[in-house]
Amino acid sequence: MPVQQFSPDDGLWPDYITHLRRVNMARWGVAADGSPLEDMFYFGVVAESCIVGHLSLKRQPILVPDGAGGASALVGAAGRALEEMFVQTFAVEENHRRRGYGRALQMAVLDFTRKNNCYQLRSWSSTADHRANYALKISLGFGAFPALYETPSGAKVGGVYFVKTV
Ligand SMILES: CC(C)(COP(=O)(O)OP(=O)(O)OC[C@H]1O[C@@H](n2cnc3c(N)ncnc32)[C@H](O)[C@@H]1OP(=O)(O)O)[C@@H](O)C(=O)NCCC(=O)NCCS
Repeated sequence: MPVQQFSPDDGLWPDYITHLRRVNMARWGVAADGSPLEDMFYFGVVAESCIVGHLSLKRQPILVPDGAGGASALVGAAGRALEEMFVQTFAVEENHRRRGYGRALQMAVLDFTRKNNCYQLRSWSSTADHRANYALKISLGFGAFPALYETPSGAKVGGVYFVKTV
């Protein structure tokens, strides 16, 4: 399956950005000028020399809120502060769906998460029209944690956190 990691040094990077804009995810995945965000990694699927699917993810510490506005790192058995990869954006273009690209992207980033010594891969998916994503995650054995997510403006959005240890 043609999953690759991408960076601005790749010839297909402009196509990667065009794809992100086509699937309406550029504003969460890259800066306004199309440059990569800090601590982010970019994976894509190439078909017929075009990017037809992608997954972007961020490396971050696993922080436990203390209820008073602060947070502390989750520490593993060996005394090491644990990190995770958190999916920022994930989509396959409509006319390329149900060909296994979404599954291949998830498998590739699970492997990437493990090789980067992170404890888990996590994502958030709202209930709005994400039936396919939920079915894919469940078929891959992710744990599902239904929760309300509070946006910076205070709105509460229903959805599911999907987590898989690696
Ligand atoms: C979620 C998404 C990325 C899946 O991509 P895809 O390439 O079509 O997925 P795959 O072909 O790898 O499907 C893998 C499995 O997921 C499940 N699945 C995928 N689409 C499904 C659908 N429409 N209905 C039910 N199950 C579905 C199936 O179990 C499927 O396996 P199968 O084809 O052997 O039955 C794609 O539907 C998409 O881009 N959706 C809109 C964006 C989105 O929801 N992004 C995620 C949240 S931000």
